[in-house]
Formats: sequence, structure tokens, C-alpha cells
Amino acid sequence: MAVGVFDSGLGGLTVNQAIAARMPDLPLVYLGDNAHTPYGVRDADDIYDLTCRGVERLWEEGCDLVILACNTASAAALRRMQESWLPEGKRVLGVFVPMIEALTERRWGDNSPPREVQVKHVALFATPATVASRAFQRELAFRAIGVDVEAQPCGGVVDAIEQGDELLAEALVTSHVEALKRRMPHPEAAILGCTHYPLMQAAFQKALGPDVTVYSQANLVAESLEDYLKRRPEMLGSGTRSRFLTTGDPVRVSGKATQFLRHGISFDQA
Ligand code: DGL
Repeated sequence: MAVGVFDSGLGGLTVNQAIAARMPDLPLVYLGDNAHTPYGVRDADDIYDLTCRGVERLWEEGCDLVILACNTASAAALRRMQESWLPEGKRVLGVFVPMIEALTERRWGDNSPPREVQVKHVALFATPATVASRAFQRELAFRAIGVDVEAQPCGGVVDAIEQGDELLAEALVTSHVEALKRRMPHPEAAILGCTHYPLMQAAFQKALGPDVTVYSQANLVAESLEDYLKRRPEMLGSGTRSRFLTTGDPVRVSGKATQFLRHGISFDQA
């Protein structure tokens, strides 16, 4: 009864960790496509092909349900996968919707027409591919009206994290927040629309200031997965053990994961 968690690299570990904390008995198989990270500078076809390959690898581990713990894959590939690729009995869920439901104060399955919500000025930080897809704005428009979204493509941040260069990642975060604030001086909320960014959450909060509410996805996705599995227990696959897999170099990836998550994580070759 394992669930798969997929990301281009280390970022999805933030989601994996939140799921494990919420459902400690649920076996999770994590796959980081570190050999091909970052996805955020690739085109949609490339992201689609890599994501399908990663998800297939998780099926081999007995995971019928895979969480795309990657906004870039969720934005660029998920809809196409669901419409034309997924075989019977398999499911792939993205990370966008739980966050947008939280921002728009909705419960799962609330399909009522879009309405006014509390927040009016939202800053979105995401990879260039996610920003270019406008998937966040599209999902938001289904649920809320009158929300002004200013999106900042945060080039270089995922790469710096994957290289283990925290100082560079922090400097880039500061400059991306400053660039956004020139266009939207007083956001009320900030969305970390890339699962790598919670690894730099303190830097985002510092640059944004204490008055800005920072939404990050990990806990929201874990909560929504728990809810989903209550409704669809048959989606628990046949796998029985938790594992961390990477398409990259397991020794190097284990070292970086341990550095960022601040506890020992050991990856195997995918
Ligand atoms: N963690 C991925 C996301 O949420 C990073 C994508 C990348 O590899 O650029 O978008």
C-alpha cells in the first residue's frame, strides 16, 4: 500500500516529509529526477516526457497513486497525462489545487461559482515554466474573483538548491522578492509555487517582511492526500516499503538531501 511522490529533484522532499509526518504508517516511494533537474527551464514536451517516465518508474514500485510534488510538472504535464496517457486504475495528483483551495477558503469538492475572497494582492513565486503556463491564475479564476496576482519567475533558485549552494539561493531569493515588490509593493500573501522553495522559506519571509502570509504546499498537500485516501482507499498500491530513489548520483543526492532537510536521508539508484 505505497504511494509515490515525484519531483525533478530535492524539492518534493518537503512534501514527502509532511506526508510522512501526517501518515507515519503509509509507505512512500520518493523519486527525484536529479539527473534532469531543473525542469523549470525546459519546454512543456520535455517536462511531459520526463514526468511520464518518472511516474512509470513509481508504478514499478507498486504505487498506483503518484503525487506530482512538483509545480512545474503539475503545470506543464498533469492535464495532458490525465487526459490522454493514464491507464485504468492509476492516478496522478498535482500540488496546485490544495494550495489554491486554502487561499480561497474552500473545502475539497466545493465547485460553487467563483466568489470574492479575503486576499486581494497575491505574490506568486515559481519556476519560469510554471509562471509561463499561467496554470496558477487559471485554477484561481475557477474559484475566486478580484484577486490580483503578480508572478515572479525565480530563475536560478532550483539550480542553486540542487548544487547545495545555500548562499547563492538566498541571494537569488532576495533579488527575486525585490523585483516582485517593485511591481507589487504590498502583497498580502505570497505563494511558494515550487516545492523547492520551502527549503528557503526563511529567506522568502525575511525578504517579504513579517506582515506577508507565506503559503507553502507541503502541509496542505499532506492534508488533502489523507482526505483523498479516506475516500479512495483502493488507490493504495501494492508496494510495502518506503524508499528514496534518484536518477542522479545517490551519494551526492543523499548528501544534499541531508544538508537541506537537516536529517539523514539515503537514496538508491532509480
Ligand atoms: N520542485 C519543482 C517545482 O515545484 C522544481 C522544478 C524544477 O526542477 O525547476 O516546480
